[in-house]
Amino acid sequence: MSDESRPSPARQAPATRTNTPTAAVIPAAGRGVRLGPGAPKALRALGGTPMLIHAVRAMAASRGVSLVVVVAPPDGAAEVKNLLDTHALPEWTDFLVVPGGETRQESVRLGLDALPPEYDIVLVHDAARPLVPVDTVDAVIEAVREGASAVVPAVPLADTVKQVEPAAAPGEPEPVVATPERARLRAVQTPQGFDRATLVRAHETVTDDVTDDASMVEQLGLTVVVVPGHEEAFKVTRPLDLVLAEAVLARRRLNDGF
Ligand code: C5P
Repeated sequence: MSDESRPSPARQAPATRTNTPTAAVIPAAGRGVRLGPGAPKALRALGGTPMLIHAVRAMAASRGVSLVVVVAPPDGAAEVKNLLDTHALPEWTDFLVVPGGETRQESVRLGLDALPPEYDIVLVHDAARPLVPVDTVDAVIEAVREGASAVVPAVPLADTVKQVEPAAAPGEPEPVVATPERARLRAVQTPQGFDRATLVRAHETVTDDVTDDASMVEQLGLTVVVVPGHEEAFKVTRPLDLVLAEAVLARRRLNDGF
């Protein structure tokens, strides 16, 4: 090809990775103390089915996902394996269960360590977000396939957010120090999607405590891109969230009935 007939770099299609094998890692090793006493959060029932099974099905519902790695409570891996064996899951997806760690970060790293080499794209999805719709999962995968190193689904905030200083003494009020512009804030959900090599490097490099994986990629100086999240991808954290999750499931069943 002559130089004239070669497309200019600006007009070339992005380096897409249409058929890159994608795996989902589901950290499910937390105790979920904010939900109240009882079984580990991921094993609590929603509509009669453990939350974790909903989350696994949500990942496996995407045709793009061919492996789901569940990171189980360290003393609960056998129970989780048994759960996966006894619930119907799509046959185009493989499943692995590995024991988790002390922190979410450690649990995700243990999940990454278990991935076979062919998986170049990784999703990380909280077991505590059992109802994420498949369209959101597909949108995250698509954005990584189109070349993003890291992708987060996110939604605008309804509440105004205040930054506070810690109280001077226990029982004292917390002074407000800033009000970030709400229009530029997003509440970030999962699954978050990554180029696998980037996420592995982030886990090797960043040792700070973080609450999501994308922030580790930000700390590497790389761009994280946002795709639209979904209101049904909320995190089940407090007792009221269970009520909402049951209502969403009931609405889905009603809609499926028509
Ligand atoms: O505590 P938080 O709600 O942020 O936990 C998010 C997810 O991380 C949950 O799915 C939880 O099970 C998981 N986790 C984990 N290992 C830990 C702590 C949390 O897999 N040690």
